[in-house]
Amino acid sequence: MSRPLHVVGLGGTVRTGSSSEQALRIAVARAAAQGATTRVFAGTELARLPMYAPEAGDGGPVARDLVEHLRRADGVIVASPGYHGSISGLVKNALDYTEDMRDDALPYLADRSVGLIVTAYGWQAAVTTLSALRAIVHALRGWVTPYGAAVNSTQTGFADGCCSEVRVTEQLHTVADEVVRFADLVAARRHQVLSGPQPAER
Ligand SMILES: Cc1cc2nc3c(=O)[nH]c(=O)nc-3n(C[C@H](O)[C@H](O)[C@H](O)COP(=O)(O)O)c2cc1C
Repeated sequence: MSRPLHVVGLGGTVRTGSSSEQALRIAVARAAAQGATTRVFAGTELARLPMYAPEAGDGGPVARDLVEHLRRADGVIVASPGYHGSISGLVKNALDYTEDMRDDALPYLADRSVGLIVTAYGWQAAVTTLSALRAIVHALRGWVTPYGAAVNSTQTGFADGCCSEVRVTEQLHTVADEVVRFADLVAARRHQVLSGPQPAER
């Protein structure tokens, strides 16, 4: 890594022992082990976000913190449960706050690498939710990393921050590795844009 990268983790559920939160934290810890600074926004914190309302102004302290960290982010890791075949409202509401970044020099998630993790109670929702997340991140102009971790929670358990399957832990590490690697590749361009004139000055 040529310079410190900032990786933001976002996701999980409000459920105690949330598997998607634990999977997220495993991936974010891997990014931290590679020298990235990190910040995780997990279920209980995301639940304090009001429903996103365009032009409503301040969404409160968690919203400000989330947007500030996403602005600084070189990479993002998103983890959602599969709820009825797609991402949860909690995670989608958090992602909606990127609308506050629409006029930034790097709007939404532009020029950030974004890794994706889904846990679901079966393969069908795991895969459809991963596809939905990919489409959302593309809409936000983020660079989805190639490997997405689809975790079947009927086969894989999480306890005390550890995963029962070595193979799944490796998959979560692969997501983090790709986020850090791609973020590092495009860091020079991102920092150049961020240090240049802001939209209002152009
Ligand atoms: C409201 C709701 C909807 C769900 N819908 C699906 C579904 O469509 N397909 C599926 O496989 N699992 C579904 N599940 C199960 C969750 O995706 C699964 O248990 C997931 O691992 C929960 O994540 P968590 O451990 O982080 O809370 C649903 C769970 C809830 C609470």
